[in-house]
Amino acid sequence: MTENATAGFGHGKVILLGEHAVVYGQPAIAAGMQVGVRAHASAGAGSVRAPAWQLDLQLGDDSPVATAIDRLCQRLGVAGRSLDFWLEAEVPSRAGLGSSAAMAVAIARAVAARTGAGEDDVLAAAAAAEAVFHETPSGIDAAVASRGGVGRFDRDTGWQAIPLNRPIELCVGLSGQTRQTSDLVSGVARLCQRVPVARRLIDTLGDLARAGMDALASGDSEALGHGFNMAHGLLSGLGVSTPELDALVRAARTAGALGAKLTGAGGGGAVIALAPDRAEEVLKRWRSMGCYGFLTLVGK
Ligand code: PMV
Repeated sequence: MTENATAGFGHGKVILLGEHAVVYGQPAIAAGMQVGVRAHASAGAGSVRAPAWQLDLQLGDDSPVATAIDRLCQRLGVAGRSLDFWLEAEVPSRAGLGSSAAMAVAIARAVAARTGAGEDDVLAAAAAAEAVFHETPSGIDAAVASRGGVGRFDRDTGWQAIPLNRPIELCVGLSGQTRQTSDLVSGVARLCQRVPVARRLIDTLGDLARAGMDALASGDSEALGHGFNMAHGLLSGLGVSTPELDALVRAARTAGALGAKLTGAGGGGAVIALAPDRAEEVLKRWRSMGCYGFLTLVGK
């Protein structure tokens, strides 16, 4: 990286409750992780490199990532092809941990550091990039990637931070299956069209997110764990779980977790488990299944 490089960071995230329902206007709860994506921008010719994702591309090609970064730069009034980008990615891509939003926010911040654009412009630019990947994103990923912490998000009111008395430790387990958020979101839309009662599952997922806020406010881990378990059942009903995600969830509960669920769009990707005092057992059990897991402290 040359000396005139600017940098920006975007948080990876987990959705605690309300994924998919948030697309339909329901509230969701999300948390930024300490890990995410750091972007470095320097004067150059439009190259984008992220060694951790084996990503090496040139702006101007017709890949979604190149198109997204081009749009993002355009939104910030900069020609992407006048810069080079170097990305340090600490979250896996396409795993339900908000990698694309973290990348978009990190790049937007690195560009904004050169132009003096403000945080609203950063969010708008990240949203323009997310729209390339997800067509109709609710905006939750970009909000949490830029804000971090734990918060409530809905399409009307945006992000509201939820103050916690103490941070919560979550186990995150990776299925190793990659997937496209847009495919999962359109699958749920098709299901709701063909079987309208599916909308009730969406509404109930929203209710679980509301109940989750009460559980967070009162520090009631058991209630939050029940919420995770119920949400996983409903998300399975919407067709976004997989046998691998179900197995990770079951293993976490067997290891003593109070609750476990898929997180993000599903169809692969990741699960989260709330397992105070039993976190190491959960990770051990996942490892014995050949799956990587890690701990993240949210709300710090
Ligand atoms: O891209 P993911 O896996 O983090 O999923 C985003 C959450 C969804 O509710 C499924 C989609 C959205 O735009 O909110």
